[in-house]
Amino acid sequence: MSHPKHNILHAVEIETTRVSTKRQRPVAFLGNKHLTSNAIVLTIGLVGLGLALHIKRTMDFNETGFLGTTAVVLPDDNTSMFVPMVCAVIVGVGIISRFSRTATSRSNGGNEPPVLGSPIPFVGHLIGMLRWQVGYMQMLSAKCQSWPAFTLRIFSSRVYVICDPSLIQAAYRNAKAFDFGSFVVESSERLFNISQEGMKIIRGETAPGYDPNGPFLNGNNGDSFLNEDHRIMVDALSPGPALGDLNRAVLDRVAGSLNGMSSNGEKVGLYRWMRDIITTASAEAIYGPQNPFSADQGLVDALWDFEGDMTLLMLQFLPTFIAPKAYRGRAAIRDAFAQYYIDGHDKGASSLIRSHVASCKKWGFGDDDIANFEVSTLFLATTNTVSTSFWLLSYILSDPSLLAEIRAEVETVVTRKKSETTGEECAFVDATLFQSYCPLLVSTFHETLRFVGAATSVRSVVASTTLTSPTSQVSYSLSSPAVIQLPSGITHSSTSIWGPDADVFNPARFLTSTKASLDKETRRKQAQGYFPFGGGKHLCPGRHFATTEILSFVAAIILGFEVEGSKVPERAFQKLGTGVRKPVGDVQVNIIRRNGWENVWWGFDLRGNGEDSDSSE
Ligand code: HEM
Repeated sequence: MSHPKHNILHAVEIETTRVSTKRQRPVAFLGNKHLTSNAIVLTIGLVGLGLALHIKRTMDFNETGFLGTTAVVLPDDNTSMFVPMVCAVIVGVGIISRFSRTATSRSNGGNEPPVLGSPIPFVGHLIGMLRWQVGYMQMLSAKCQSWPAFTLRIFSSRVYVICDPSLIQAAYRNAKAFDFGSFVVESSERLFNISQEGMKIIRGETAPGYDPNGPFLNGNNGDSFLNEDHRIMVDALSPGPALGDLNRAVLDRVAGSLNGMSSNGEKVGLYRWMRDIITTASAEAIYGPQNPFSADQGLVDALWDFEGDMTLLMLQFLPTFIAPKAYRGRAAIRDAFAQYYIDGHDKGASSLIRSHVASCKKWGFGDDDIANFEVSTLFLATTNTVSTSFWLLSYILSDPSLLAEIRAEVETVVTRKKSETTGEECAFVDATLFQSYCPLLVSTFHETLRFVGAATSVRSVVASTTLTSPTSQVSYSLSSPAVIQLPSGITHSSTSIWGPDADVFNPARFLTSTKASLDKETRRKQAQGYFPFGGGKHLCPGRHFATTEILSFVAAIILGFEVEGSKVPERAFQKLGTGVRKPVGDVQVNIIRRNGWENVWWGFDLRGNGEDSDSSE
């Protein structure tokens, strides 16, 4: 990809191979004064930002020499990502500094994960993250494959990276020591433009039991808005009537889009086409028929503009200048939802939104902040679902025998009948039967998530603790404050977990019969090392909704349509904050109705009333 000797950044890649198991001495001149280290981070960050902006304005990426070299260093289609990369790292390091400050003052007696050194003091790993973003942790772990965990030092801060599947699951179980709430608070402030009054509520400062010197109310089960909102989200998205309503609404809208397809075929960019359908359908399911997206399709672009550069918004630095599209996208969505609430359209929203809004009002949020929240809900509901749907469909279409087998499976969950009212031929896909009748489709779905899903769970270490693997007896002392990272990109691609074909897409990998052929230890490692939806208390509550939506949408396309010109594109460079990788560019296809399914009206059944086909438990 890049020519090493041309760039100083390559030195980081080489030198990180020289890993050090020695404990590093505290950095004397930085001491434990986080203000000093934050100031240095900020200075370097701002210099980097200035440089990045300068380069962005002046460079011609097609030329050679310094500028050409830089272009080579930025992989795939990411030549426009240099500024986001710089800013993402600044924000990341700022956050790391905040959550792990004074770490060097509290070393834990020698049993913490070994330090993975960098030859560039203080900033080596910062530069590595800048260069490689999410892939950086995978790159580091490849250099020390036998290590269950390692420690990164950035200035006086510690980041623990956990690679061993049983340790990862042990970390997920310990929500008391490893907290997520502080990151939610941080991103609400930086990303969603919540007012200062709203931030007090989010930080728990207005809660009845608030004590500035007492326990963190957002931690664990404290009486706080964040905890209440989390419970609302989990309740509404767990199997039951509320989820059944959401599933029905989203699939009705998906069916509407399929039924609107021209019988002569439609030429579309496949990723974009799926993105637009899923975004519109999700908005309708969550916010009801009078959701702003139904009236203004431009909001779909606004949401994805926000998604594309949201890391830059976290910087809270000249947003209209460095991330104008993301800034405008966020503003457009906020304005549209402010009007939606003024008009009372939320009366027709899902019970998820109605409960959420009631809770917001109870805790004292103003109307502006309630509208500010919506971009976050829509982002979570679509960002990973769209990419997963696209990859699942692309992989199935790329293999004719896989396509034929999955078509045969899907046909068993489809009922064709004449509509009693219109007399038209209808095909109903029962979205509750995939698990029982479509094992290869479900296995391919999980393999897709293993292959393109590389989310990193991040927690703040709020209490010094010992992390012990119940199976391997490996044990580490983790100091507080620090940040702990659980990168699924490492375990999802590990040959010691998946075997020598870990980097091959194997649709049959998650079949019961395939798993039964493995020894018990491998089965355990695979079960613990596969976590596309995170884990523990913050395991993705939307996983059931997403699974039903993705399988149903892809199943209907597979059965009812030919997709001409499809291919599996390259996986794009993975920016910080992305869970599922995106494709490089789009794939131009022609979607036409299949022989025998030309005049069919599509519909979806949920006979299980909210039970979905999810097997990710
Ligand atoms: C394929 C689709 C999806 C994937 C791969 C995915 C993945 C994830 C991951 C990795 C996390 C972080 C968990 C952790 O750190 O332990 C997460 C959190 C979350 N996801 Fe999803 N997600 C998907 C779809 C959805 C959908 C459709 C919704 C909403 C309808 C949703 C709502 C959420 C929420 C609210 C959280 C935060 C949970 C918390 O704070 O406890 N996700 N998701």
